[in-house]
Amino acid sequence: MVKAVVLGAAGGIGQPLALLLKANPAITALGLYDIVNTPGVAADLSHIATPAKVEGYLPPDDGLAKTLKGADVVVIPAGVPRKPGMTRDDLFKINAGIVRDLATGIAKNSPKAFVLVISNPVNSTVPIVAEVFKKHGVFDPKRLFGVTTLDVVRASTFVGELTKSDPTSVVVPVVGGHSGVTIVPLLSQSSHPLPSSFSATDLDALINRIQFGGDEVVKAKDGAGSATLSMAYAGAEFANKVVRAIKGEKGIVAPTFVHLDGAAKKTLGVELDFFSAKVELGSEGVKTILPLGELTDKEKGLVAAALPELQTSIEKGEKFITESTQKL
Ligand code: NAD
Ligand code: LMR
Repeated sequence: MVKAVVLGAAGGIGQPLALLLKANPAITALGLYDIVNTPGVAADLSHIATPAKVEGYLPPDDGLAKTLKGADVVVIPAGVPRKPGMTRDDLFKINAGIVRDLATGIAKNSPKAFVLVISNPVNSTVPIVAEVFKKHGVFDPKRLFGVTTLDVVRASTFVGELTKSDPTSVVVPVVGGHSGVTIVPLLSQSSHPLPSSFSATDLDALINRIQFGGDEVVKAKDGAGSATLSMAYAGAEFANKVVRAIKGEKGIVAPTFVHLDGAAKKTLGVELDFFSAKVELGSEGVKTILPLGELTDKEKGLVAAALPELQTSIEKGEKFITESTQKL
């Protein structure tokens, strides 16, 4: 029995993500929460002939607590998306408070759940959840994940196009964080090597496209938001990996933004509290944080360039909770 929950389930990501989770036969219960429209979304999905029993709640009558009761996996896409000209950090003002309040609900109602954070800026919202959980004495670093799968999906798609390969067979690790230069594709470790005709300029263009793929969608949507469908696909894919690992499947590895303890910092050679690393998942969540592997000089430079922004964003998220006097 696996209960999955989506917080922000009526949104651009939330609805297709809920659909994909409903279509996952390993999920037996699906809880949907939003400040609007969840009863309708739940009623609609409940007619689909798959095992998951669907319930949708709004804030009144302890809706958040009811949604979270018994949750194994909680996915959070609640919050505002970017418009053209905005950075992900510009979303902090609104999304930090939304994520803080939802994390408080999780700490009180499902503290053992695996928590998958999609809301931007991921480099700050994941530290926010960690600090809220610490304040409630329920922080388990093995159970908290920032979802960076969309970067992996994009990198695999673009490399698939360039190498004329089936994109479903392409695996490109992407590490660091989820914003601009903090997104570090390890193209030298791609399952499908780039063509020998690929020049240094071509490589720079590909790296730039992966790092700023989100902007491509924001621009094309022209004020109507950011990536929703590809994000729902990526979120469902990562959630499915977590579910398979909980159910005992071994050897599942995925890049994800996780807390680093002293040993993990040494493994990665990174002095940060959080980093998106290749992680082996297990029944308790994070099983092993894997080393970055052999990097080219170019990739070493990209990792170094990611660190200052990551540090600033992580500290911003942590301080939002540690320096707040608000009762959680
Ligand atoms: P959206 O506006 O379409 O949907 C957000 C939903 O959150 C809305 O339904 C809204 O009602 C709900 N919401 C707002 N406050 C809430 C609260 N307190 N409790 C519960 N629900 C609440 O936005 P979207 O396009 O779905 O994007 C959501 C977030 O995901 C944004 O922050 C966006 O930047 C982020 N995102 C992250 C990635 C990633 O790779 N991690 C990719 C795409 C988008
Ligand atoms: C993305 O990478 O598409 C998301 O983080 C949304 C955004 O703001 O670009």
